[in-house]
Amino acid sequence: MSGETADRLVAEVSAHQPSSVLDIGCGWAELLLRILRACPGAVGHGIDHEHRHIERARQNAKQRSLLDRLSFATTLADCEPHDLVLCVGSEHVIGSRSEALRSIRPLVRPGGRAVFGTLFWQEQPLPHVLEDFGELPELEQLISQIVDLDWIVERRSVASFSDWDTFEYGFAADWEVEPGRISDQAAKYRAAYLERRGVLGFVNLTLTRSDG
Ligand SMILES: C[S@@+](CC[C@H](N)C(=O)[O-])C[C@H]1O[C@@H](n2cnc3c(N)ncnc32)[C@H](O)[C@@H]1O
Repeated sequence: MSGETADRLVAEVSAHQPSSVLDIGCGWAELLLRILRACPGAVGHGIDHEHRHIERARQNAKQRSLLDRLSFATTLADCEPHDLVLCVGSEHVIGSRSEALRSIRPLVRPGGRAVFGTLFWQEQPLPHVLEDFGELPELEQLISQIVDLDWIVERRSVASFSDWDTFEYGFAADWEVEPGRISDQAAKYRAAYLERRGVLGFVNLTLTRSDG
């Protein structure tokens, strides 16, 4: 997501002043760190099995003086319920989309929230794009599936072109040969991205439990 979208999401979830935030598949935990900065009393727990991501998260947290409010683990085992649970682009950490939505529910304290970010088809994909990403719902099917799993959708935010461009070009920038000169790998990645731009959708859904 772009910086502005992240700021808006952080402001919205922080307005409820969560005291504890769980980030499932946190990567280097940028969203979690921004929420902790906005909620001075909160503690955060990140889950990721990639030690290099957690190390990068720790370095970033240290620079922002947030390290003492953070803990990390490689699995969800023995995880307690939290006021806010993030699962953004990470449902596969748990399993299928519906398995993730079922498993996240008891991890959200009554009255708390989940932010669930997931893919959907915005337009009919080309056959090879469909092959790469597999079957995905359309947005309204996705929302129905989530409501059927006993969640209330409080807010939805569909990724804009600007969000996607920031994410995809930023991702490929890691393969820059030198500033401004990209590798063949990055060039191929960007060409593939342009074929799915406006076709593959991503939505961040803020969810509350239907039982409270
Ligand atoms: C697409 S990234 C999303 C990162 C982050 N939520 C974000 O929005 O930037 C998915 C993350 O899940 C982690 N992951 C994948 N499978 C996992 C597993 N089985 N257990 C723990 N972490 C996992 C990956 O290492 C990766 O950092």
